[in-house]
Amino acid sequence: MDLSPLFTPFRIGKLELPNRFILPAMQRELAPGGVPGQEMADYYRRRVEGGLSLIIGEATAINHPASTHYTKYARLTPAALEGWQRVLDAVKGAGGKLFVQLWHQGAVRKEQLAPNPQVRTISPSGLIQTGEPVGLAMTAKDLADVRDAFAEGAEIAKAMGFDGVEIHGAHGYLLDQFLWHETNLRDDGYGGDLAGRLRYPCEVVAAVRAAVGPDFPISFRMSQWKERKFETRVAASPQEIGLITAALRKAGVDIFHASTRRFWIPEFEGSDRGYAGWVKSTTDAAVITVGSVGLNNDIMSSLYGEDAGSTGADGLAELLRRFERKEFDLVAVGRAALGDSEWVRKVRDGRFTELKPFTKENLAFLT
Ligand SMILES: Cc1cc2nc3c(=O)[nH]c(=O)nc-3n(C[C@H](O)[C@H](O)[C@H](O)COP(=O)(O)O)c2cc1C
Repeated sequence: MDLSPLFTPFRIGKLELPNRFILPAMQRELAPGGVPGQEMADYYRRRVEGGLSLIIGEATAINHPASTHYTKYARLTPAALEGWQRVLDAVKGAGGKLFVQLWHQGAVRKEQLAPNPQVRTISPSGLIQTGEPVGLAMTAKDLADVRDAFAEGAEIAKAMGFDGVEIHGAHGYLLDQFLWHETNLRDDGYGGDLAGRLRYPCEVVAAVRAAVGPDFPISFRMSQWKERKFETRVAASPQEIGLITAALRKAGVDIFHASTRRFWIPEFEGSDRGYAGWVKSTTDAAVITVGSVGLNNDIMSSLYGEDAGSTGADGLAELLRRFERKEFDLVAVGRAALGDSEWVRKVRDGRFTELKPFTKENLAFLT
């Protein structure tokens, strides 16, 4: 099997990547008090040395009081910037590129675990994925404050030397709560039909674009699935995927990161095209695929404590087939690159038997 097409360079505006393999955002809890530590810098540097062409840093809470309850997840507060500089220096020093993933939990934030339990959890309609009430519905001021915090985070990232930002619009967090009809019941123009539900995510993207100017790459991570509801769909049809990508592209997105648990699963009946492939068919923006690349089980199995074996060369044949069919431009390799920091180099060199599996220990320990 000739995997060389996946080792061709790719350009997004002025950003040139040497190959198609990137690291998706993965939370590692390496930021005590929200400040990235040396361990995080070393962990990302090793992945650059292992051949990944772009690192999308883990979900990073924007500087808004209700953005997260976690205390060991990175933030983009002024106090955290020194830590981020260390990470940037490590990644750049190894010749890599780094995006930061801008994130707000919305209704998923747990007030009782937050550093300041007085700050209320906010979301489009005060509802969590299951439809249960949680916290408060966002006021007009909340909408403006959160939007501005996303924009300010992107502005800081650009000024510090990051190569781009990814806006987290997936997996049931705040912006996805706007996109999904079950968590967005607003009747003020930010809810209703898909066009209405897209309005706030688009305003956030537009504010980020205005803050960083025309040449700074903006990725938008989107998913159909929610962490606890796999069967759910934001877009019920290819046409709705087209509505989403058209609106967000117009607002300023350069890259769509189409998040799935298994990249090869057909998204709609009557075609074997995957989610990324449908996204790609509707846009001229770059598209990233993701989901069990190189591994024989999915992320949720790993989070429930199972190990995942390497699929070796065979598992990559389907990836190559879809790449050559132009279903995506870039491939995010998550757990496989946690289990083996050398994953990309070994694949490039055909050393498939040397690929290490992903084990439950990899969730806690890093090599
Ligand atoms: C430990 C861990 C942490 C994760 N944290 C994030 C995150 O911060 N932001 C995000 O968008 N996705 C996160 N994800 C999802 C991954 O980015 C990726 O989509 C998922 O692991 C599927 O890819 P894989 O099968 O190659 O691992 C996380 C996954 C894992 C395993």
